[in-house]
Amino acid sequence: MLRLIKGDLYKLQTDAVVIPVAEDAQLHENEQVIFLTEKTGTATEFRGAKGDELTLYNLPEVKSPRVIFLGLGKINKIDAESLRALCGRAVKKCIKSKLKNMIIAAPSSVKLGMETGEVLEPMLEGAFLGNHVFSKYKEEKKNRPLEKAGLYTEPQIMSVFSGLPLQVETVCAGTLLAREWVSTPSNYKKPEQFAKKISSAAGNENLAIKVFKNKYLIRLGFGAMVAVGAGSRNKPVFLILKYNPKGAKKTIALIGKGITFDSGGINLKPPGSLEDMKMDMAGAAAVAATLISAAKMKPKMRIIGAIPIVENMPSGDATRPGDIITGYNGKTIEINNTDAEGRLILADAISYVLKEERPDIMIDVATLTGACVIALGEKIAGLFSPDDELADKIIESAKKTGERCWRMPLPDDYREYLKSEFADISNMSSSRWGGAITAALFLSEFIKDTRWAHIDIAGPAYIKKETDYCGAGGTGFGVRLLCDLIQKL
Ligand code: BES
Ligand code: ZN
Ligand code: ZN
Repeated sequence: MLRLIKGDLYKLQTDAVVIPVAEDAQLHENEQVIFLTEKTGTATEFRGAKGDELTLYNLPEVKSPRVIFLGLGKINKIDAESLRALCGRAVKKCIKSKLKNMIIAAPSSVKLGMETGEVLEPMLEGAFLGNHVFSKYKEEKKNRPLEKAGLYTEPQIMSVFSGLPLQVETVCAGTLLAREWVSTPSNYKKPEQFAKKISSAAGNENLAIKVFKNKYLIRLGFGAMVAVGAGSRNKPVFLILKYNPKGAKKTIALIGKGITFDSGGINLKPPGSLEDMKMDMAGAAAVAATLISAAKMKPKMRIIGAIPIVENMPSGDATRPGDIITGYNGKTIEINNTDAEGRLILADAISYVLKEERPDIMIDVATLTGACVIALGEKIAGLFSPDDELADKIIESAKKTGERCWRMPLPDDYREYLKSEFADISNMSSSRWGGAITAALFLSEFIKDTRWAHIDIAGPAYIKKETDYCGAGGTGFGVRLLCDLIQKL
């Protein structure tokens, strides 16, 4: 869908030429683009401020029927994220106008004081990510994605970055896959169905797939997963994806929370907290999609994706508050709140991965706590890790991809809130406060001394209203971040 384009801009066959404009400086060096931006001079309604838009039709010099100017605001405020957003906005505008293709003029990296790749990559990302329409459950498909989007650049840039569009597509296709899964309603992604969706997407790649069903999970001692799934007719599945290239020396394990619907169980959630709980498998979606994209990038390390998939429902068979279960590692857990189910299924998945795969690094991704959303809001994920080097690398990747993470503490003296009178540990903190931290501390009890990080994506995994390069629903948060991290580890 993406490509780089050079040559005579005025002669290009395209439905729209989009030109980003700053309010206080010329962003372009290309003569043809500069000539066009000068045409906005008389339009008082367009100053190049953030959000400004102006479309000129049938300019005599230009073959394309439309030239669309989009404002980027002040030049020194422009960064990777604003370029990503601008391209998403451009693509969405063209989709709404029922166009088939468009070309965006890339600003000069010299003028922006950025590296060329730092300009091109986010622009390509924004265009690809903005070109996603989730209309599977609508009879009338009002909006259709564009067939092509081109980035207009100089010939010498094109030859150096010719591989970039495909690389961006490979990674961002993973983001779209995760978005689709997260936005799918829970009645279409019961655990076995969701596992099949992942398996069929992963089956096309160089990935080994293992599927453990409920009876096998009972036999192997996945007591926590089985307890969370006890109330539902739709029984748990544990999926393990493995990318295992020849000569790999390092193993990185990714673990994703896959609750296909979180009703809370016997601790039933109140109305208002239930409607969006189809998104409680966003960690699983991010991990599965990352493995699928990563397998295409052919990194040298072994990557394990461990994905526990469970539906959390109340019923006569459901686990009760106060029940004590035994997890995969033999530890007993008192389930004091059936709505704190994510940490339970993750504990079993972590214990299994530690025993069977002995990874060098383990990262879990989960929509784990409402408390994390209260702490950091809906756009920033919580990052927990006792390992400074690993945490720094994750933050660095997060900054690059615009999937923001903020490091949170793992204070030892909060561990006492997880003490149980009757079992080895309680799944529920005895304190009302700091719920994101105590959830992370619960997970840490299962890690032993492996290098580990936990990313709580409860906030940014899902949005109710569309943004510049994402529609309402699943955001695919984490896929681009993890793909970038894998290349850095
Ligand atoms: N899936 C929820 C967390 C969540 C909340 C995700 C809001 C996305 C948006 C999780 O299983 C949960 O219910 N956590 C409880 C934990 C509590 C019972 C200790 C919470 O955060 O309230
Ligand atoms: Zn819950
Ligand atoms: Zn949950």
